[in-house]
Amino acid sequence: MIDDDKQAAAVAAVAEVRDGMLVGLGTGSTAAFAIRALGERVAAGLDVRAVVTSEASGMLARQVGIAVLDFADIAQVDLTIDGADEIDARCFAVKGAGGAMLREKIVAASSARMVVIADGSKRVGRIGAAKLPVELLPFARAYVMRVLSDLGAAPVIRPNYRTDQDNLVADCRFPALEDPHALAAVLAAIPGVLGHGLFLDEVDAAYIASKGVVTRLER
Ligand code: 5RP
Repeated sequence: MIDDDKQAAAVAAVAEVRDGMLVGLGTGSTAAFAIRALGERVAAGLDVRAVVTSEASGMLARQVGIAVLDFADIAQVDLTIDGADEIDARCFAVKGAGGAMLREKIVAASSARMVVIADGSKRVGRIGAAKLPVELLPFARAYVMRVLSDLGAAPVIRPNYRTDQDNLVADCRFPALEDPHALAAVLAAIPGVLGHGLFLDEVDAAYIASKGVVTRLER
């Protein structure tokens, strides 16, 4: 069962949380398992505070009794736990199917350690098959779409969707992802692009569960 594996990976990552930590909470169905698992530890006496990467994760975290701080006031997070759409042995990840990659990238960058949690279907030899989401300013829509098309990204604006920042997402499919760092730099340099789902230097470790067995990758 995929949900059992998501939960097993989440519980393994949440075991890294210690008293006094400030924890970054990711977004998506796997991150939701981590939020619930952390809520159980808080109910059992663990003393932590959290920041969240989406409105949805904030709502769930508060529901399960986790103290949530405004990330605008936070410069350094101890440990962030988040899901991914793809993760490879280099701990390179593609994220953003849930549309939260911009906040996720910022919270990850502020974190002393970031761990990805996933069921085995997300583990790949090399990232590149999943859609790569790009967040863009609505004002820049036509221009950014032209530049992404010229890059061969075959971008499609996610229908009826706005991010928590009220921006658009273009889901991209690049024919090949031979040099992810070079692509990340190109995307980041496009005026009007606010973020993208390539996580190349942020992820320190990953817990990946398949058929109940959790494997840890460390970068
Ligand atoms: C949201 C994300 C998610 O972490 C990613 O899409 C994985 O989600 P799920 O655990 O539901 O498969 O990057 O922006």
